[in-house]
Amino acid sequence: MKILVIGSGGREHALAWKIAQSRRCEKLYAAPGSDGISKVAESVHIKADDIGSLVRFAKDKKIGLTVVGPEGPLNAGIVDAFQKEGLRIFGPTKELAALEGSKVFAKEFMRKTGVPTADFRIFDDYEEALAYVHAKRSPLVIKADGLAAGKGVSVCRAIEDQKTALKEIMVNRVFGDAGEKVVIEDCLFGEEASIIVISDGKNVVPLASSQDHKRVFDGDKGPNTGGMGAYSPAPVITDEIFKKITDTIIYPVINGLAAEGKLFKGVLYAGIMMTEAGPFVLEFNTRFGDPETQAILPRLKSDLVEAMERAIDGRLADYTLEWDTRPCVSVVIAASGYPGKYAKGMEIHGLEEVEKMRNIVVFHAGTKLGRRASDGHNLFITNGGRVLNVTALGIDYKNAIDICYQAVRTIHFDKMHYRTDIGYKAIKENG
Ligand code: AMP
Ligand code: GLY
Repeated sequence: MKILVIGSGGREHALAWKIAQSRRCEKLYAAPGSDGISKVAESVHIKADDIGSLVRFAKDKKIGLTVVGPEGPLNAGIVDAFQKEGLRIFGPTKELAALEGSKVFAKEFMRKTGVPTADFRIFDDYEEALAYVHAKRSPLVIKADGLAAGKGVSVCRAIEDQKTALKEIMVNRVFGDAGEKVVIEDCLFGEEASIIVISDGKNVVPLASSQDHKRVFDGDKGPNTGGMGAYSPAPVITDEIFKKITDTIIYPVINGLAAEGKLFKGVLYAGIMMTEAGPFVLEFNTRFGDPETQAILPRLKSDLVEAMERAIDGRLADYTLEWDTRPCVSVVIAASGYPGKYAKGMEIHGLEEVEKMRNIVVFHAGTKLGRRASDGHNLFITNGGRVLNVTALGIDYKNAIDICYQAVRTIHFDKMHYRTDIGYKAIKENG
């Protein structure tokens, strides 16, 4: 069948790369895709949020399965629009995408179903929110309710920072309507991990565990980013802890929704904090993680398309995915200035050499084809803040890290930067 992937980043490159390997895939498109992704999927010049045009394209081309990368289209109702036209699409409806799209909805649902999460209050009035933080006098996390491109969360120890965060969201409205309401929650402490499952509304099939690295600099220093690298599996998630997460978090959510007649079909991603009191939910996403997906999919031996089709059809009971036991490490190479302002258009050198290396795959996050200044030849140039995800499988974490960084050091563009400690936590934990 013909398959369409929606999105254009490193996560979508990894999804397209994996889907292209499926026996079920005869032809693969990506909308809008990218020059990097076009190695495995034909680019379609339709933006990810242009739902009407995507529906028309899928009907015209008789697309048998559409897979959505980013949260924006899910929250804008792309699944509902496709389903209305009888088109098969993998992902939750708009109503259930609110588990990610509205932190208020997610937190209230967790409270109702007894899912462990930080204690919280919700405010739509600035003065009341201010009075609350003054009364609490403790580290707090302040979150804009709606989607804010990963920037809507501030972890604030000092009262001054808490006041600033509230003012930005509620008075200066830097996130617009996404900041109509805020969640103020207690600060949790511990190590973070990502648990991503595929659900058919009743049953779930877990993907391998993984860990993201959110801060821009080594040692988890500096501002938050979209993610500077990931590895899978995450040793902090032992089998026992994994079972606890499934029993106390994943199934209560899926079953709780089902009890209300709402079948969650698609990817449920739980951002977990491993606290002293056990695993707590920091957030839900209703899509594949970025860059976790880049570190997870190279380890997946089973056919991802089959898993997604089973989810749509409600056939995930007794289905399991097979995994390569080798760990995978994915390092983000970013443009200078990211996560702040950054330049584009730098020539990227060394990619061809890296593509010949064994056990390495490079997913393109923010590149496009350009011309080499010296001789006019085609070559990739940078076109985003996060530019490349250099990804390696190794016999153990150390080996995966070594192979990965060898490839990273082979790549060069002007003022590129990357973390040099991706994966080290796994070695520490694995002994
Ligand atoms: P979120 O988008 O809700 O996952 O928040 C982004 C990041 O903020 C998380 O990955 C955590 O690092 C941090 N964070 C969110 N909620 C909390 C919390 N209650 N306590 C401590 N850190 C948090
Ligand atoms: N890696 C974090 C996210 O995908 O939201």
